[in-house]
Amino acid sequence: MATFMEEKVFKDPVHGYIYVKDGFIWDLINSKPMQRLRYIKQLGTSYLTFHGAEHSRFSHSLGTYETMRQVLSHFKRNHGWEPGERNERLALAVALLHDIGHGPFSHTFERCFDCHHEYWTARIVLEDEELNALFQRLDDRFATDIVKVLRKESVYPILHQLISSQIDVDRMDYLLRDAESTGVIYGRFELERLIRVMRPAGDRIVVKKSGIHTIEQYLLARYFMYTQVYLHHVTIGADILIEKILRRAKECYQDGRLRYVPDALTGFFEGRASLTSIEQYLKLDDVTLLYAFRQWTEEPDMILSDLSQRILHRKLFKSIPILEITDNLKQEIMDAFQRLGINTEYYLEFRQTSTAGYAYREGIICCDEFNQCEDIGRLSSLIRTLQPNTEFRLYYAKDLLELHGRNGNIVERLLQKMAKGNDSNERNWN
Ligand code: NI
Repeated sequence: MATFMEEKVFKDPVHGYIYVKDGFIWDLINSKPMQRLRYIKQLGTSYLTFHGAEHSRFSHSLGTYETMRQVLSHFKRNHGWEPGERNERLALAVALLHDIGHGPFSHTFERCFDCHHEYWTARIVLEDEELNALFQRLDDRFATDIVKVLRKESVYPILHQLISSQIDVDRMDYLLRDAESTGVIYGRFELERLIRVMRPAGDRIVVKKSGIHTIEQYLLARYFMYTQVYLHHVTIGADILIEKILRRAKECYQDGRLRYVPDALTGFFEGRASLTSIEQYLKLDDVTLLYAFRQWTEEPDMILSDLSQRILHRKLFKSIPILEITDNLKQEIMDAFQRLGINTEYYLEFRQTSTAGYAYREGIICCDEFNQCEDIGRLSSLIRTLQPNTEFRLYYAKDLLELHGRNGNIVERLLQKMAKGNDSNERNWN
């Protein structure tokens, strides 16, 4: 089939230019499921913490494609790797489509309705008519092969690692893109150099031992982005608020008293998400949810209306770090809130967050010129210092306590007493 065309370019804040020379890839980019990603923010509620974090999953998907293109080109030029035309296209299509199943405020949405974007990605790739007409132009197995690569079930382990491992093209793009848009400079690393130290070795991807500092820089960037951006307590507070809005809306829907119900949400509210059609699911984006929040500010249910106003006007829950979440502590705080008549189900939350550090399972392998290979965790004392870290926080509507004057102050003092670092003056009130 004739799929070549005049080269197209996109201007891009991370890569400068993104190059598309394959008509098939161009048609994928212009398909409806891909264009929908323009209306889903890559970082969910992070824009409420970092105002620049407005970039979309569309730009990240294009960037992942471009990073994949650059890695493949480097493997071919410098390491004689010959994946063949079909596998190369498969790799590029996987990179472009890997996030196609994400919904609005993705991880929060998944937590609420217990269904995962990987499930929707596979369904969209296998069921969407427009995409499948494009895949069929290549061959019958192309759609299933995309899903197999994403699930690491294909016969091409190198492709699995390129799209999902500690050093994959998805992560490389999102770290740089998120660092760029949030302004978190220490999330940056040198992409070109990182790609240059990677090489295929049989069934796996390894890095040159001389590139160890490049890998260190990349892993540090990842560490900083997790601690400073992805798990930022203000963002987690906004996620909790959205979770509570969706739970309350679902409750109202099930009681038959929700006035505004977006069509795309009915399956989720009825607890039968998997019966939602692909056509319905593709209507779910940030616009759908933000409009629902706007409508729900006028619902007769006071809690739903109040929570919806909070997210739209950025009246987020406050948080304090606590040493650990014990049943006793939880009960004591819940009792104190309930004595003031505050609904603890919707205005209080205990949350644990964890950073992975550097995981050794499927680690990054460094090889020298004699092909002596070792995990970077053994070679770099800097990387060994990146340990998993867990944090506990209590989120609550501080303004509701303030409404209760002296009694509210008593609860505030109780919270202060429980805050981590209370004695050493490390307490962090936000
Ligand atoms: Ni991604």
